[in-house]
Amino acid sequence: MTRTIRLGINIDHVATLRNARGGAHPDPLRAAHIAVAAGADGITTHLREDRRHISDNDIVRLMAEIAIPLNLEMAATTEMTAIALHYCPHAVCVVPERREERTTEGGLDVIRQRTTLEKLTRRMQEAGIIVSLFVEPDIIQLEAASMVGAHVVELHTGAYCNAIGTSRADELARLETASAQAVAMGLECHAGHGLDYDTVGAVAALSSITELNIGHFLVGEAIFCGLSDAIQRMRTLMDQSRTAATG
Ligand code: PXP
Repeated sequence: MTRTIRLGINIDHVATLRNARGGAHPDPLRAAHIAVAAGADGITTHLREDRRHISDNDIVRLMAEIAIPLNLEMAATTEMTAIALHYCPHAVCVVPERREERTTEGGLDVIRQRTTLEKLTRRMQEAGIIVSLFVEPDIIQLEAASMVGAHVVELHTGAYCNAIGTSRADELARLETASAQAVAMGLECHAGHGLDYDTVGAVAALSSITELNIGHFLVGEAIFCGLSDAIQRMRTLMDQSRTAATG
């Protein structure tokens, strides 16, 4: 049982907005500084193959200026592996990536990509980088993640967030079971994708989960109340829920 839960702020969509006009504003680095001041434990960012939001130069600047851990989301490609090994972020979170998708739509198929992920994991860990694999809350994928040598899994919360009524309770139960199974296998368990003020509490209450990574909702909410307030409110909701669940 873990009494505290970390919050990683995903700043990708600050870059999405910046890139819409091709200029420098709004600057994701400024968002990262605000996130740090608002109580974030880490900054998460996805360098996509098509560079649709975060750029290589953003990574350079984040690595140079942000003192809290950087979690680099990346596809398991040769290019991204070389970039991660060059910058040596605190952690990488390996995600499936398809050019035509709007966002990361599902978890990795660790079994199918076993050889690639095994090699990638070993190379990152030799360089001192923590490897997290983004997977669906499914025991088969957790076992495969453990088999390839990853120390962390991030559970995809998209199905839970998109579900309605009893299906949401079913999806939450899947997250609860999978997070406990992950910990029983010796894996550190994170979660994220699609979380908002309404959905975060129940996930934060799962004591096997040690970190949530949240982005899109917060960047959207920042339009109405500012990024700092949005992050602080999310942090409060998470902490209240974890405290109520763990005493
Ligand atoms: N975790 C992972 C692995 C992701 O790919 C994303 C989206 O980039 C997130 C967390 C954050 O999701 P959202 O932006 O929907 O909060």
